[in-house]
Amino acid sequence: MGGTGQIGAQILSALLATKAFNITAISRSESDASFPPGVTVKKGDYTSDSFFVDVLRDQDVLIIALAFQSPPELQSRMIAAAAKANVPFIFPNEYGSDNGHPIIRDNIPINASKTRYRDQIEQLNKSSWIGVVNNPWYDYSLPGGFFGIDIKNRSATLYDNGLTKFNTTTRTTVGLAVAKLLSLPISSSDNSPSLSQYANDFVYISSFHTSQREILTSVQKATNTTDKDWKITQSSAQGYLDESMEKLQQGDFMGMVGILYGHHFKEGLGGDYSSTRPIANGVLGLPKEDLDETTKEIVGV
Ligand SMILES: NC(=O)c1ccc[n+]([C@@H]2O[C@H](COP(=O)([O-])OP(=O)(O)OC[C@H]3O[C@@H](n4cnc5c(N)ncnc54)[C@H](OP(=O)(O)O)[C@@H]3O)[C@@H](O)[C@H]2O)c1
Repeated sequence: MGGTGQIGAQILSALLATKAFNITAISRSESDASFPPGVTVKKGDYTSDSFFVDVLRDQDVLIIALAFQSPPELQSRMIAAAAKANVPFIFPNEYGSDNGHPIIRDNIPINASKTRYRDQIEQLNKSSWIGVVNNPWYDYSLPGGFFGIDIKNRSATLYDNGLTKFNTTTRTTVGLAVAKLLSLPISSSDNSPSLSQYANDFVYISSFHTSQREILTSVQKATNTTDKDWKITQSSAQGYLDESMEKLQQGDFMGMVGILYGHHFKEGLGGDYSSTRPIANGVLGLPKEDLDETTKEIVGV
C-alpha cells in the first residue's frame, strides 16, 4: 500500500521491472492515485478490516509505504489483517533511520513511533518483518534543503564543521533493494543470501557514506562554484538539536525535521550505520552510485 507515494512508487516500479511478481496495490477508495499497467488495483474502504484481509489472502508479502499523516491505527490494522491472512512477510513503514540504534530510534518521535508495529508483528507471530534502513533519501534531502544546503541561494550551514559522516540513499536504490530482496530465495541451506536471513531484522542500504562538507563540495562541482561564491555559516550540531527540540515542543513540525537531520550531523547518534552494520548493497547486487553524478542530476546542470 502507498504504491504511488514517494517511496512506494520506486518500489512498485522496481518490482514491475523484474516481471517476476504478481502485484496487488491497495489504495483508498477516495484516492485519485493511478497505477501503471501490470498492477492489480484494489481500491477500498479503509475502515473495513475484512477488505484488508480479503486483499491480503494468498499474498506472500505486504509492503507498507504510507504517508506520515495517515492514521497511526491504520498500520496496526493492516498488520493484524496480514496475520489473519497468514502473509509470511511484512515490510513495515520504515525507510528511514537505523531504528535498531537506541539513540536515533528513541530520541526522534517519528522513529520511536515505528517501534510498536515491529513489536506487534512479532507478538502476532504469523508474519516476519523486514525493516528497510536507508537514512535520509539523498534526492529528497538535497533539493529540499534538509542537508543545510540551499542550492538556489548559495548558502549553507555546516554543523560541527560539516565533517560528521552519515549514510544517505537515493530513492531508486531503495526501490531496487526491495525488489532484489524479494527476488532472493525464501531460505537457503548453505548460508547463501535468502529472505529469511532478514526476518524480524533490518536491512541496511546506503548509496553514500558522506558528510555535509562533501555534499557541499559536490554541489559546488555541479554548479561550477567554490566556497567564495557561497555564504557558509558554521554552527554546532548540538545547538541545532536543542533549537529543533524547542520548535517541536511549540508544535512546529520543522522541529521534528531538525531533530532528525541533526542526529546525522552530530557524531555518535546513529546516523553512520555503515561503520557498524552489514550493508546489504553487495549481497543484493545494487549498482555503485557516484556522489558527483547523482548531485549533478539533482542540481540539474
Ligand atoms: N528517508 C527519508 O528521507 C524519508 C522521507 C520521507 C518519508 N520517509 C518514510 O517513507 C515512508 C513512506 O512515506 P512517503 O513519503 O513515501 O509517503 P507519501 O508519498 O506521503 O504517501 C504514500 C501513500 O500513502 C497514502 N496516504 C496518504 N494519505 C493517507 C491517509 N490520510 N490515510 C491513508 N493513506 C494515506 C497514499 O496512497 P493512496 O492514495 O494510494 O491511498 C499515498 O500515496 C514513511 O515511513 C516515511 O517515514 C522517509
